[in-house]
Amino acid sequence: MSVVNRSKCPVLSGSNQSEDPNFNVLTANPDHFFKQLRQEGPVHRVAFEDGFPVWLVTRYDDVIKVLRDPRFTKVPVDQRKTNPDAGQEEEAPIYKLREDHMLSKDAPDHTRLRTLVQNAFTPRLVQSLRPRIQQIADELLDKVQHRGKIELVEEFSYPLPISVISELLGLPVKDREKVKQWSADLVTIHVSDGNRNVTEIASTHFVAYLKEAFDYRRANPGDDLISEMLRQRDQGDSLTDEELYAMIFLLLIAGHETTAHLISNSIFTLLTNPEQLELLQQEPQLIGAAVEEMLRHSGPVLTSSMRRALVDVEVDGVTIPAGDGVLVVIASANMDENKFHEPETFDIRRTDNRHITFGYGAHFCLGAALARMEAEIAIGTLLERLPDLQFDPEVDVLEWRSNILIRGLKKLPLIF
Ligand code: HEM
Repeated sequence: MSVVNRSKCPVLSGSNQSEDPNFNVLTANPDHFFKQLRQEGPVHRVAFEDGFPVWLVTRYDDVIKVLRDPRFTKVPVDQRKTNPDAGQEEEAPIYKLREDHMLSKDAPDHTRLRTLVQNAFTPRLVQSLRPRIQQIADELLDKVQHRGKIELVEEFSYPLPISVISELLGLPVKDREKVKQWSADLVTIHVSDGNRNVTEIASTHFVAYLKEAFDYRRANPGDDLISEMLRQRDQGDSLTDEELYAMIFLLLIAGHETTAHLISNSIFTLLTNPEQLELLQQEPQLIGAAVEEMLRHSGPVLTSSMRRALVDVEVDGVTIPAGDGVLVVIASANMDENKFHEPETFDIRRTDNRHITFGYGAHFCLGAALARMEAEIAIGTLLERLPDLQFDPEVDVLEWRSNILIRGLKKLPLIF
């Protein structure tokens, strides 16, 4: 395959646009675009379609400072107040789902919500999932092994994490397709576009489904996360039903797309760096370090979620006015030449690898240990069971998702 590059990566399109003409360059190649931004200045003002001003922070040290700074809030602007159709939206629970979880809160609410999951989501629980994750990976490959080809995204990268997170939560296997569809509907829609109803309908069904799941788990508690969170909450933790629904929404959303794209991005990067692939095949014990390098070099997250300045804040000599949005560009910080030696080189033996793909500070990814384990098992199993994996020669161009948050391939057809 000759044409497999990121020039097919329209990172910003559709709902997000910029006042700055240079911003469109991002659609061509994110790594190249972010490099230019890093060189030009510490922060860059852009605007989304609705005119909301947003600052991109691209250098590693500045990113860390912003993620540490309590003058940037995670509490979003109330979209119901700014939306002309506000009356209708009160009916649908989508806003509560988006606003009532920990990633939309500052301390002390953030701490209260995070502690509840942290108490339930223990390292022991994560480790106990290892054999089951291996089994899921093997079952997915059993289905395709005889065929000599696989569309990796649809047939492996997506089903694996959604199965893991559903089982972890204690949602029945038979509901997996339904849950997968709802989570897709709940995140793909921009607030102000014509598909809003899809999101609202999905949120209504999802909350009704969770109500039933809670009733079932109260009557039949298990060792899953929903049972554990209900147990803690019913023992007196101050948590509303809406907050619990939003928590599960966040775990589902945060827990599957990111991990899915990490798996397929990693295979893409290994296939485009055959000497590194060979090294990993010869020394499979390098898988842990290899996953760290994949997280840094080809991680699924381009930017953090949105923050807002509570007051005027100076970042590296530039004042970000109160009320403006801030996105820290994780993919750019991970390629900062002042932090990493030859950052563009994909090197699974790299030792200077303090990447920030899981974020930093109070909102550091709660699922990092699980994601790392899933990626190690998924990539290790793929390389072991399909050792001569190659790009499908019948496919000329691979398309990347058009999204400012996520870096991921739409499809990755492979042969073996
Ligand atoms: C937060 C990345 C997998 C649950 C975050 C943040 C990042 C991130 C960058 C911080 C966002 C911000 O500060 O704006 C990733 C990546 C993953 C991954 C790259 C996979 C490769 C998971 C998984 C779960 C999970 C598997 C759960 C099962 C969460 C939660 C938060 C979070 C709950 C919010 C934490 C808080 O607000 O305190 N993740 N994540 N993530 N992630 Fe992940």
